[in-house]
Amino acid sequence: MANVTVVGAQWGDEGKGKIVDWLAERADVVVRFQGGHNAGHTLVVNGVTYKLSLLPSGVVSGTLSIIGNGVVIDPWHFRDEMERLKKQDVVITPETLAIAETSPLILPLHSELDGFREDRSGDKKIGTTRRGIGPAYEDKVGRRAIRLCDLAHIDELGPRLDRLIAHHNALRVGFGKPPVDREKLISDLKEIASSILPFAKPAWRILAEEQKKNRRILFEGAQGVMLDVDHGTYPYVTSSNTIAGSAAGGSGMGASAVGFVLGIAKAYTTRVGAGPFPTELDDEIGQALGERGHEFGTVTGRRRRCGWFDSVLMRQSVAVAGITGIALTKLDVLDGFDEIKICTGYKIGDKVFDYLPPYYKDQAAAKPVYETIEGWKESTAGARSWGELPAQAIKYIRRIEELIECPITLVSTSPEREDTILVKDPFLG
Ligand code: GDP
Ligand code: IMO
Ligand code: MG
Repeated sequence: MANVTVVGAQWGDEGKGKIVDWLAERADVVVRFQGGHNAGHTLVVNGVTYKLSLLPSGVVSGTLSIIGNGVVIDPWHFRDEMERLKKQDVVITPETLAIAETSPLILPLHSELDGFREDRSGDKKIGTTRRGIGPAYEDKVGRRAIRLCDLAHIDELGPRLDRLIAHHNALRVGFGKPPVDREKLISDLKEIASSILPFAKPAWRILAEEQKKNRRILFEGAQGVMLDVDHGTYPYVTSSNTIAGSAAGGSGMGASAVGFVLGIAKAYTTRVGAGPFPTELDDEIGQALGERGHEFGTVTGRRRRCGWFDSVLMRQSVAVAGITGIALTKLDVLDGFDEIKICTGYKIGDKVFDYLPPYYKDQAAAKPVYETIEGWKESTAGARSWGELPAQAIKYIRRIEELIECPITLVSTSPEREDTILVKDPFLG
């Protein structure tokens, strides 16, 4: 039985939450494997909107959900998100959600450091979500992190906390900020521990058992390939690997568990935060895409930058993330445009590139080379079958497939769960 790994193929916010929620009904387990509560995944089910940041999108449909070891966890945020969902009648229990015991924690000192750095960076800021994601991953690879399993032994944490705090205090001095309040941190950890420890489990083992039973596992990526710390527009990236290969390492499963890699891409492009964006439109078309697509960040409320579909970037994403098929979302947002452009190359100085070169100044200087196709006047909003799509919209989809060298296996035409066209079932490989 094939598993499915969902990854964002652009700069995040491609509609992963909607597609994961839709696929979750066909899956037995949904697993987050990287990132943290920097993610903002929106689901709309029968007119009700659910917003998830840390919790896997499977919780809404009641599918067994796992947060893998590759995710960085803010335990206070975890409690708040759970409480918020409870008010929407989504009840989460240790029977329906497990969090890997080995997950590193995001502490208040991490989000503070994220903020200090951004405030100090002026026009060089990354535009992070300020949620402490980068600093928490730094402490993980620096072997200073406090992990979820440590919360069961807070009284023995002293020397490890001292080492972590000494590291942070040195940085805080440089920013002219007060040292970490050690006693408050310990009492806050003691207070939160009982809310999250019941969910702490050997996630790798639950997954191994599920696999033995031939259960369908759906991995839910956060962010997008162009925000990947190795393959993205560095340094304007997040601090984890967002590609499909992370699903294995970030959950404690073997590489073969990844299965069908479903890349999610909007029918145009958006980006939130700073960094290069060759097809960005500063004109009324960019404005129209933002308004029609309601392009405001789920986590920070920031306006998302908008532009035309970039087939160069997407072909690169398909290759580096090993994408098997694409779910093309927000096709409806393109309804009514007289003409639609697709980027097919970049001009940098007097050279034309068919990939995005890595040097940040080249990336910033890249000017899109466009091909233009005629738009369509009919509405695609809410279409649930291929037959409901205007011929010109099908032509656009077919041209994208050709340019990115990857088939489109799903099309999404509204935020609603069921407004989805299945071209090929990813679970059937
Ligand atoms: P994610 O981070 O990849 O899960 O995406 P977000 O939830 O941050 O942003 C995607 C936004 O687009 C959400 O508000 C979704 O409800 C919405 N959305 C998803 N698919 C479609 C679609 O096909 N059409 C329209 N109009 N909106 C969609
Ligand atoms: P989902 O899962 C869009 C961006 C931030 C910033 C950069 C680094 O909803 O697609 P970080 O806080 O991770 O250190 O910020 O990455 N970013 C996202 N952009 N969607 C996301 O998640 C994002 N998560 C982080 O805006 O540019
Ligand atoms: Mg999002």
